[in-house]
Parts: sequence; C-alpha cells; structure tokens
Amino acid sequence: MSADIRTMLPKGAITLAPLAGYSDIAFRRLCRDFGADLTVTEMVSVAGLNYRSKKTNLLLRIAPNEKPSCCQLFGHDPEQFERALSHPEVAAFDIIDVNMGCPVRKVFGHGEGSALMSDPDRAARIVAALKKGDKPVTVKMRLGVSDKSGAADFAKAMEQAGADMLTVHGRTREQLYSGEADWDEIRKIAASVSIPVLGNGDVNADNLKERLDGVYGVAIGRGAVENPQIFSGKRTLTRYEVFLRHLEYGEMYFGERYVTTVLRGFVPFYLKGIPNIKAVRNAAMVCKDKQSLLSVLEGVE
Ligand SMILES: Cc1cc2nc3c(=O)[nH]c(=O)nc-3n(C[C@H](O)[C@H](O)[C@H](O)COP(=O)(O)O)c2cc1C
Repeated sequence: MSADIRTMLPKGAITLAPLAGYSDIAFRRLCRDFGADLTVTEMVSVAGLNYRSKKTNLLLRIAPNEKPSCCQLFGHDPEQFERALSHPEVAAFDIIDVNMGCPVRKVFGHGEGSALMSDPDRAARIVAALKKGDKPVTVKMRLGVSDKSGAADFAKAMEQAGADMLTVHGRTREQLYSGEADWDEIRKIAASVSIPVLGNGDVNADNLKERLDGVYGVAIGRGAVENPQIFSGKRTLTRYEVFLRHLEYGEMYFGERYVTTVLRGFVPFYLKGIPNIKAVRNAAMVCKDKQSLLSVLEGVE
C-alpha cells in the first residue's frame, strides 16, 4: 500500500512536466529552487534499464530539493515495468510516472507512449504491475490518439487499475504540440475520476491562476523552459542571474560541456519576450564556449 499522493503534493500544485532534453537534474533543481511542487525526470526506457547504461543512470539522479521525487518510465511490457522497480536508481524515487503521451513515431511504433491509449488493457496491466511496488504510480496521458471521445474512459480505466494521479495533456497524439490545449476536456476528465488530475498544456504566467480551476494542479512544460521563475509567481532574479544558477548546477552535475551541449539551447527560450533581443540571441547561438556566452548574456534583465 503506497502513501496517499495528496499527502505528498498539495492541492493547487504547480509542477514541472517531463521534458526530454530539458528536464535534467540541473533544470529540475533550478525549478525546485523557485518553488515547483513536483519535478519529473526525462522519460527513461524500461527496456534500457536492463543494460544499466551510464547514460540511463545519468537520467535517474535525484536533486537534494526533489522531495517528493518522480521518475518517468516508458515501455510496453508490464513485466519490464515491474522489473524496473528493483533497479536501484528507480527504487530511490518516491513516485513512478508512466509515459502514455509521447507522440514520437519510434516510440509510438513500438506500442509505447501515446500508443498505450489505444491499448487500455495493456496500459492497465502496466499500472497494475507497478502497483505491486509500494510507491504511488501516476500516468501522463493525452486526450487520445486521434479523437478525444475515449479520453474519459481511458482515465477511468487507469484509476481502476490503481493509478494514484493523472497528468492530462489537453491534446491528441495527432496534434503533437500545435493547436490549443483543450482545457474543457481536461476539466471534464478531472471531474469524472476521484484521483487528483494535473492539467497540462500551454500554461503560462498569465493564465496560471485560471488554469488551476477545476483541476488538482498543473504541469508546466515549455512555460517553465521560458521562465523557470514561473513557479514562484514573480521574477526576483534577472534572466542572466537565472542563467548563472542554471550554469552552476549544470556544471556540477554534467561538467563543463553542459553549457554548449544543453544550456545554450535554453537561451532562445530564456530571452523570449524581451524587445529588440534578436542580436543578442543570434550572438549567443554561435558561442562556442562558456566565457563568450557569459559575455553576450551579461546584464540581460
Ligand atoms: C521538447 C519536449 C520534450 C518532451 N518530453 C516529454 C517526456 O519525456 N515525457 C512526457 O511525458 N512528455 C514530454 N513532453 C510533453 C510535455 O511534458 C508536455 O506535455 C507538453 O509540452 C505540453 O505542455 P506545455 O504546453 O506546458 O509545454 C515533451 C515536450 C517537449 C516540447
């Protein structure tokens, strides 16, 4: 029997959505500093866990301020999910999330990610397999593969299989990340199950309060990449100061190469919305090392 997830996560929770390529340990620690109530790892393959690769283990580190901690697994074989529970790095997490939303063809084609929405029996067996462990199990889903009519039934089936919470991205697989997220449908699903639902899709600083209406909490993806201070509700640090802190964590966990392999990719998002910033952005994108990037960005408010 796992703990009630409501005791681990407050009502009105503002959480960081899992983001492959972005929600690494450095960015998650940064978001927690600004008050994120939950942060979720990038998606980790349950099949890949068998190989105990160094790369997979790098995805499964936990920052000191990640309480509770949550890792996201993807795959299609319930047995592999169950085996994942005894992987020491996975066992260290407080909450296990299952990816049932990834639209990428390679993942979908293997019957994983959003493909599980068209195979509710398998999806339920995955949840039930994970519930053999002692941790809360959560599901991240979309509104369907191509039409939304089965979303509420799918959510109900996940609840019945033992899921402790759902994160609902208000788009179908077909929509990928375009078009507006359907918050009416998200709220309908939240009202039709008795477990907490985090609404997800297009949450930003302007609509955050309104989005919290009718759901237990929200999960923020791209809005947090643009502004990690969204979790605190105010900008107390300049963008440059946020960048410096992100850099400090990135180097701590990944070494010097973080700045060019990952952090430079955040720059266009960090700069979004600042008037007349194009020249700075273009200069930043061709920087080859930390010093040149720091001098381009220094002083950015
Ligand atoms: C670059 C990128 C990577 C993503 N990686 C994951 C992932 O690993 N697992 C997952 O469940 N969703 C992933 N998503 C989906 C997001 O978690 C989220 O559902 C989606 O971006 C909509 O929320 P947003 O409008 O707040 O960004 C990813 C999205 C983007 C843009």
